[in-house]
Amino acid sequence: MSKQTLLTGIQPTGRLHLGNYFAVIKPILDAKNSYDIYLFLADLHALTKIPQSETTRENIKDLMMNLVALGLDHKAITLYKQSHIKEIPELKWILECLVTVPYLMRAHAYKDAEAKGSEVSGGTFNYPVLMAADILMLQPDFVPVGKDQKQHVEYARDMAQKFNNQYKTEFFKLPKELIDESVQTIPGTDGEKMSKSYNNVIPVFSTKEELTKIVMSIPSDSTPVDQPKDTETNIIYKIHALFLDEDDKRDLKAQYETPGLSYKVAKENLLECIWNYFAEARERRAKLEKNFKAVEKIFAKGSKKVSKETARYMEEIRELVGYGN
Ligand code: TRP
Repeated sequence: MSKQTLLTGIQPTGRLHLGNYFAVIKPILDAKNSYDIYLFLADLHALTKIPQSETTRENIKDLMMNLVALGLDHKAITLYKQSHIKEIPELKWILECLVTVPYLMRAHAYKDAEAKGSEVSGGTFNYPVLMAADILMLQPDFVPVGKDQKQHVEYARDMAQKFNNQYKTEFFKLPKELIDESVQTIPGTDGEKMSKSYNNVIPVFSTKEELTKIVMSIPSDSTPVDQPKDTETNIIYKIHALFLDEDDKRDLKAQYETPGLSYKVAKENLLECIWNYFAEARERRAKLEKNFKAVEKIFAKGSKKVSKETARYMEEIRELVGYGN
């Protein structure tokens, strides 16, 4: 029997940090032996933030290299660029015609943008429809996402259902979100959820100097060296634990609970752990930087494979809608 499929997208919007790594990248790497995976770079979605073209170009290139350096070019994973798949905007239009404005007004992305008081762009308003097209275009079984994207997958499901009802078909499989509760809040250097907008991120790829500066300035409480440390509240411990399996986590906890550990040493240990964990990916990334063509090739191959499938689906969709020939 063929494996079930997962599909998810990542926006190229800035430097990759541990929050992205543990919430999105690592779960995909862990799933690669059990599922067929479609992973795309959501470059069209990133345009809703209206970045300068230079920023867009750099962010795309950076994320492409990061994904390959971290091992997502595995044979079970098809890596591609959203903008390469010409059928996505066409399906988006069909779906747009099936949903109402009040329905789209209930989407979080729109409501949040509206609450900020700025005039909301058509792109932000239609964001969930583009996302539904991304998903439905490939008929995945599951869509692994963060909690904040749950509603968007529900919207994709609604749109699949609307299409099926309207065109009297069972063409679209209803996609299901896959939410891993254990990775929903990766703590940042201040203990809040790690996020670019909170300025509390630890980048995956950085120089040793930069990483040292960030890790050594994680705030610690005033528990003296000769007192046990509370691992429930300790940010240094919580970030360190992300990298460890159950046995090593137990050992680390014991270290914290044994009097004698200074926060300076705890941070130095964390620093070494992060630095070593990404050593291989860092080396690979340095090589890819000198050979970006190799990265482009991987994405071009993925996009070609996906385009073949989406072209076939799109023909059937046009037939069902009635404008196919
Ligand atoms: N909106 C998602 C995010 O910001 C990215 C994304 C775009 C996505 N299209 C998708 C995720 C389709 C899953 C499926 O994280």
